[in-house]
Amino acid sequence: MIRALGIESSCDETAAAVVVDGTEVLSNALHSQIALHERHRGVVPEIASRSHTTRILPIVEAALDDAGVTPEQLDLIAVTNRPGMVGCLLVGLSAAKTLAWMFGKPLVGVDHVQAHLHAAFMTRPDLPTPGLSLVASGGHTALYRLDAPGETSLLGRTRDDAAGEALDKGAAVLGLPYPGGPSIEAAAANGDPKAIRLPRTMLDRESLDFSFSGVKTALLYHLRGPGLERPAPELDAAAVADIAASYQRAIVETLVRKMRRAAERESVRSLSIGGGVARNKLLREMIGADPVLSRLELVFPPMDLCSDNGAMIAGLGTHLWQSGHRDGLDLDAIATARTRRA
Ligand code: KG4
Ligand code: ZN
Repeated sequence: MIRALGIESSCDETAAAVVVDGTEVLSNALHSQIALHERHRGVVPEIASRSHTTRILPIVEAALDDAGVTPEQLDLIAVTNRPGMVGCLLVGLSAAKTLAWMFGKPLVGVDHVQAHLHAAFMTRPDLPTPGLSLVASGGHTALYRLDAPGETSLLGRTRDDAAGEALDKGAAVLGLPYPGGPSIEAAAANGDPKAIRLPRTMLDRESLDFSFSGVKTALLYHLRGPGLERPAPELDAAAVADIAASYQRAIVETLVRKMRRAAERESVRSLSIGGGVARNKLLREMIGADPVLSRLELVFPPMDLCSDNGAMIAGLGTHLWQSGHRDGLDLDAIATARTRRA
């Protein structure tokens, strides 16, 4: 039996979890900073890293307590060391290194985006491969081919905004609360997704890359005119619902169309999704209704494994550890992802 502690602090969630044998989640403790960033309508790096420093130890303690595991009983400590905001990453990394040193445990550095992808293998250890996987969050939107746990190749990624970022910015324009994904989803429930015409940016015929800056600008122009010559209009709840529904549909449909294009090209056997946007109900419905995608094995990880969490870090950390991977106490925090295209 392998017991791993996973620590995550790359963005605005302080998270820690204990996972057994890479799949059995004994605990998944989390402190979300949404309340701190809400009025700024986005994550403020300095506020985020300060909050991590006060929350990291209670969250690690909660993860161990909830799991009924002592630090001595751990086999390894996995921690997100890339990519993310450096000041945030350093907090989790320092905690992980300190624990590793104090209790003489191996340390394994984990790539946050790879951990989102790995959540599919935690949900379905026998995931049919090759698989297609979408990671869509506030910071990332990319399509990957999964060949085995830890073996992935990048097929396409956003050239500008991430899908979650576009939802967050669209919500700000509509006066809906942060984070935008859930608030647009809620507002859209009573709206007409065909109320306004918004673009689905597909880029050139071959491309599996995404671009969400166009839909965001189109929303702004719809409200304020092409030269932003009008002040932001006063919208009643019905108008907000219609626009939110149209905007959500445009973003989700773009994601689904790109996944279909990738599935047709890569002859994959399964489709999995990860990242905060993977919590979206319309996305899950549209995948299920798509004639190409619905023929694949669909793996939608549970909600708490989609958005940022410590369990996915412990899960991928366990796989890396079993493959012989070890890091030293000189492990660095790295801000940007080093990605490899297929
Ligand atoms: O993975 P995550 O928790 O953190 C990052 O790594 O960014 O993703 C957060 C993002 C935010 O942009 C948020 O608006 C979006 O995921 N999100 C959603 C939903 N829940 C969160 N987007 C669409 N529908 C949702 N239900
Ligand atoms: Zn994430």
